[in-house]
Amino acid sequence: MDQDYLFFTTQIKNQTGIDLSLYKEAQMKRRLTSLRDKKGYASFRDYFGDMQTKNELVDELLERMTINVSEFYRNPSRWEVLETKLLPKLLQSKKTINAWSAACSTGEEPYTLSMILEGLLPKENYSIQATDIDELALKRAELGYYLERALQEVPNENKEKYFKKDGIGYKVENCLKEKITFEKHNLLADSYKNTFDLIICRNVLIYFTEEAKIHLYKKFSKALRPGGILYVGSTEQIFNPKQYGFQSVSTFFYEKMSI
Ligand SMILES: C[S@@+](CC[C@H](N)C(=O)[O-])C[C@H]1O[C@@H](n2cnc3c(N)ncnc32)[C@H](O)[C@@H]1O
Repeated sequence: MDQDYLFFTTQIKNQTGIDLSLYKEAQMKRRLTSLRDKKGYASFRDYFGDMQTKNELVDELLERMTINVSEFYRNPSRWEVLETKLLPKLLQSKKTINAWSAACSTGEEPYTLSMILEGLLPKENYSIQATDIDELALKRAELGYYLERALQEVPNENKEKYFKKDGIGYKVENCLKEKITFEKHNLLADSYKNTFDLIICRNVLIYFTEEAKIHLYKKFSKALRPGGILYVGSTEQIFNPKQYGFQSVSTFFYEKMSI
């Protein structure tokens, strides 16, 4: 790794707790170098120097290192499997669902899950924790305001039930919002709770190094109760899930095995 970039990643880790070395290097370096160039700095050392007095440079950096693209019902056929097969099976042995939407970005994923759970069990029997490293994305998630095109995959019935037209967009109804707790959480550094029946972590693992991923799979496995489900993104299948105590139950879904 070049010394200038190494200096930068070390300092950023010291100051923010974010370890950029756990993200795939080529991709991350390209993105940050283009931002640095755009801001007019010839080296990462100079760039970091100015960050000490200009907070907005740090905010911009954090914004650039995260990619927030999300959608309601992203990959609809996968959500259908969750709704029609996996959740009903889970509910045969347990009457409550404690779920975690990890790296939830601007909220489309936890709100999708909430719409599905609303149809399957009484409101008081489920809870959703939704987390992301990006505070700005979390603020938007909490606000719950989306433009029409974001709602393309939402079934009409749910659109009518859970969204209210407001100006040029739609607001998520409070009945969904009140079931979700949004919280800042760094998957690579913070501790995990260990009480979940369902963990959804999609389209973020692709940015991490292999070592970081292995570490995360172990932590997800510990965080799930036996029989609980891990739901990953469409390019994030786990190679050899058994080594983490998982068995594949459908494409992109893994069940935590009993010991
Ligand atoms: C492409 S979005 C995925 C959103 C959603 N899960 C989906 O699949 O539609 C990736 C999200 O991962 C978040 N992220 C990146 N690094 C993270 C980390 N170390 N801990 C928690 N979230 C992280 C980003 O802020 C971003 O919101």
